[in-house]
This record gives sequence, structure tokens and C-alpha cells, in this order.
Amino acid sequence: VQLKKLNTLCVSAMAKFYMDVASLNELRLALAWAQEKGQKTLVLGSGSNLVFAGDFHGLVIRMQIAARYWEQVDDTGATLVLGAGENWHDAVLYAAGAGYRGIENLALIPGTAGAAPVQNIGAYGVELCDTLLSVTALDRDSNRLVCLDNSECGFAYRDSLFKRSPGRYIITEIRLRLSRTKPLQLGYKDLEDYLGDATAQDLDSLTVAEAVMAVRRRKLPDPEMIPNVGSFFKNPVVPVEQFNELQARYPNVVGYPQSNTVKLAAAWLIDQSGWKGYRNARVGVHNRQALVLINHSGGTGRDVLELAAEIRKSVQERFGVTLEMEPGVVGG
Ligand code: EPU
Repeated sequence: VQLKKLNTLCVSAMAKFYMDVASLNELRLALAWAQEKGQKTLVLGSGSNLVFAGDFHGLVIRMQIAARYWEQVDDTGATLVLGAGENWHDAVLYAAGAGYRGIENLALIPGTAGAAPVQNIGAYGVELCDTLLSVTALDRDSNRLVCLDNSECGFAYRDSLFKRSPGRYIITEIRLRLSRTKPLQLGYKDLEDYLGDATAQDLDSLTVAEAVMAVRRRKLPDPEMIPNVGSFFKNPVVPVEQFNELQARYPNVVGYPQSNTVKLAAAWLIDQSGWKGYRNARVGVHNRQALVLINHSGGTGRDVLELAAEIRKSVQERFGVTLEMEPGVVGG
């Protein structure tokens, strides 16, 4: 089966076997089949955070479990339950449209609800872990369905237990605790600039979601039109001393202070290394956001990974900072 339409970077890759899975029962059957046939497995959501370095010699399972309902509705909030196959952005609009707050800043992030906890999706000052109550997953070590609460998921910036133990958990459902009253998060610079004089009183979760969508559309390419996987690298976190040294050499370096570290803007490092808007015959770097790599014309996963390696090398040489890739690499 050709996977080109099943990854947002739009690279060609073949799966030896492929199954769509719409329920827990179907998932169990697919896994049992793979085990019997001695095939390795890869669980795919929308393919918006991975790079196929080549073909996948096993069974690709596309997670399509659908479910969207409310639990524990009270005066202050409600719990939104989402099947792993639900489209993330649709869920954001659904929650915001119903007047609930907590995930509106995460509008327009490509991907499925089941993939969201893996990299702890985040944008405009909000991360999934701020509202995530629990994750239901099939633990392949014990072959049992487990429910992990927020603290058990080991969330960090673009990181989680699921990302650190690849292949062990298959997420089937997530629960988010949303609020009717919690303050809107409007502090991220791009969002603040876009909203201008509007104050929290003028806004609700839906208008914030719409503002986030407008801000994203200005800078980030729509994967439907221009194949990409969003940020290709994480923003590197460095000790304060290293940041101070960098700042002495490059007064404009962009960093966000954390407790005793500083998170650097990888986009700035890449931009300053001259890569923004670069393109070769097949792949390139977006001209409005240097952190986004693009498949312009028939590029392979390897083309993209080669470009990423060159970028990494030049940022390392210039700034002494190591960039870590954000999407996962599979196949090949
Ligand atoms: N900048 C440049 N050149 C560029 C782009 C940005 O110098 O081409 C500098 C600017 O100074 C800007 C700073 O870098 O202030 C940060 O840029 P931006 O606000 O666009 O955010 P980011 O740190 O590059 C992160 C997330 C995005 C998320 C935005 C908004 C990561 C790896 N990426 O990007 O997530 O949308 O913040 O919150 O943390 C994604 O993961 O796919 C993604 C798009």
C-alpha cells in the first residue's frame, strides 16, 4: 500500500500490509494478526509528525477510533472524551463552540486526538498537558488496556512517556478537563499583536481559536497545500550560562527564560544561519517560518532528512547548539 497520501510530508513509502482500525476490538485483531505473521507494526494517526525514511516492512495500522462526548458536566466545566482517531482541530472547534476553555490556543494543529499526547502538542502558551486528565491506551507489554492519569504520562515540552517508550502504548482514547471560567491565555507575542486592543472581556474561547487560526495561517504552511510536518526541530533548552555567552556574541538571540534554563528559538538559529527560504530541486525551508521544512516537489524522506542534517550541522557550527528533531523517523 502506498503511504504518500497518509503522511503530510507527502513522501512516497510502501507498507507491506495495511489496516484501518475503527474500534478497540479491531485493534486487538490487527495486533494479533501481526503477531501471528511475525510482522512488526506501526500505528499511524494523520501522519503529520513523522518522516518515512523508506518503506515500512510490516503492518501499518491507521487509527480511526471515533468518539466524541462529554462527561462530568458541572457549572464550572466538563470532561471531553475523544477517540484516538478524532481530528484534533475539529475537537478544538467543538469544545470552543460549546463555550469551554482550555484548548482554543491549540487550534489548527494537524493530527489526531490520539497522537496529541505523544508529543504533548503545544502552541501560543498552552500545552495539551495543561488540560489532559487521562489517556487510555493498550499496553503492549501486558496486552491490557490501561488508564494513565496526567502525572503518569510524564509530560514535558514536546515529550511524554509515550514518546520515550516507542511502540509500547497504543492510545485509544483521551480525556480533557475543560473549564467555563478559566482565564484565556493571550500572552504569546504573535497572538497579542494580532488581538491588538481586544481584552479578555471582549473574547471567548471561539474568538481566541479563530485568532490563533489567523496567526497560524500567516506563518505556517497548510500541509494540504504545501507538504510539511510543522516544526522540524524542538526549541533547544540550554543552561542560563550558555544563553548568556550566546547573547554576548549575538545580542538579538531569541530565548525564553525558564526556571534555570533558557529555551532558545530554533527558528531564529536556523534563520540566522541563512536557511530561511532555501530550496533545492525537491525540498526546502519555509520562507515565513524557518523551523518548517517543506517537500516542494517529489522529495523523499531521505531528501528531507539530508536537508535537516545540513541545517543541524550549520547551527551546531555557528552557535554550538544541538538541534533535536521533532518528528519521528520510520521505515527504511
Ligand atoms: N523566528 C525567526 N525566524 C523565523 C521564525 C521565527 O527568527 O523564520 C524567531 C522570532 O523571533 C520568533 C521566535 O523565533 O519570535 C519564535 O517563533 P514562533 O513564535 O513562530 O514560534 P516557534 O518557537 O518557532 C513554537 C512551536 C510551534 C508553535 C509556535 C507558537 C516548537 C518546536 N514549535 O514555534 O509548533 O506553533 O511555537 O506557539 O515548539 C509545531 O510543533 O509543529 C509547531 C508549529
